[in-house]
Amino acid sequence: MQHPAPSMDGVARPQVASSPSPFALRRERGKSDERLHAMTDAGAPPFSFGGDHLLLQGVTDYAIYMLDASGNILSWNTGGQRIKGYTGDEVIGRHFSTFYPQEDVERGEPERALDTAAREGRYETEGWRVRKDGSRFRAHIVVDAIYQGGELVGFAKITRDITERYQAAEHRRQAEQALAQAQKVAAIGQLTLGVAHDFNNLLAVIATSLDQLSRAEGRRKEVLIDAARQAADRGVRLTRQMLAFARGQRLEPKLHDANALIDGSIEIYRRAAGPITQCTVELVQADTRIMVDAEQLEAALVNLVANARDAMERPGNIHIATRVARADPDLHPGAAADRDYLYVSVADDGPGMEEHVRLRAMEPFFTTKDVGRGSGLGLSQVFGFASQSGGFAFIDSTPGEGTRVTMAIPLAEVADA
Ligand SMILES: Nc1ncnc2c1ncn2[C@@H]1O[C@H](COP(=O)(O)OP(=O)(O)O)[C@@H](O)[C@H]1O
Ligand SMILES: [Mg+2]
Repeated sequence: MQHPAPSMDGVARPQVASSPSPFALRRERGKSDERLHAMTDAGAPPFSFGGDHLLLQGVTDYAIYMLDASGNILSWNTGGQRIKGYTGDEVIGRHFSTFYPQEDVERGEPERALDTAAREGRYETEGWRVRKDGSRFRAHIVVDAIYQGGELVGFAKITRDITERYQAAEHRRQAEQALAQAQKVAAIGQLTLGVAHDFNNLLAVIATSLDQLSRAEGRRKEVLIDAARQAADRGVRLTRQMLAFARGQRLEPKLHDANALIDGSIEIYRRAAGPITQCTVELVQADTRIMVDAEQLEAALVNLVANARDAMERPGNIHIATRVARADPDLHPGAAADRDYLYVSVADDGPGMEEHVRLRAMEPFFTTKDVGRGSGLGLSQVFGFASQSGGFAFIDSTPGEGTRVTMAIPLAEVADA
């Protein structure tokens, strides 16, 4: 059906001869100029598109129409009819908010679109619009303001139906979400398996030791007690790591003298270091007061010492040290250049880490150990503890030359106390 020429419905027409056409269809003009001029000779077009406006009428993929300055529809094209379901007769003269969902009209979206276009020259958006039959479609919309002699005379509006593209993207997003969910479930399954194995092994060591203890004598007795104690410690550590991870490690930082805390737990660290390694502690002579959760600091050090012990198959050394220094923000983004930090490090002369291991070692659940030996949560606890205490943690390690893991915690300022 042929739509009535917009100039025939009696609505006053702004003349916008001087404004540039907002439509990219200009390129078409060369080809069809002659034909269009012939067709439009009959009457002056409402907006001066040259011959474009008849061409626009034939466009079916885009709804292209004009609004007056207050948003009433002045023209319509085949694309508008195809996308929105209205004929020109039905919509010309109506306000363009007809196409908006009720809730958007109530929120003042149509006015906002025109205001923005009037102010900035153009408004572009994506949203839901309503067809004549009440169904919704996803629309990409561009509104261009048309000025004549500095005065706003109307708007050119281009709407494209992008429902299919939108739905395809939506399906893709849902598929990705389902995949992520499946991966999460798989990861939890793996974790559960690992933890179950861990505890099973630990309990087996404890049960066997207890069984044999009643029949054992002298030195043998001590070995069995030590084995059971080590297994129990490991179980406690594992539980702590899991709790810290599951809770997102909620800390209770208080002002503590770090040296005193470490000194008070030396026996715990020695026990975690096991019988074949030598564990030494060297505490800096300085004010080492920091704001930390004491229990988590101890847990972090136990995790580091246990890692060093796990790494060493032959007798070796584990060295815990504290020192005070400024941080280099170039090396440690986020570190404050003007603050003293307490560095707490655990070094070993074990086998060290390959670079690809060092890079991933702090990731939760990253482990190179067999099922039943590693949860991959030790270093992530260390990292989480350090950063939640306002500091950072890093690993120095070279294959064959040992490993040093350092936590840097800002020293408490007097005002913090
Ligand atoms: N002192 C160390 N020497 C060598 N490798 C280490 C050391 N500490 C950690 N690693 C490596 O980092 C990995 C992750 O450590 P961690 O997060 O504590 O998990 P887990 O000890 O349960 O494997 C270990 O599996 C190991 O490969
Ligand atoms: Mg560990």
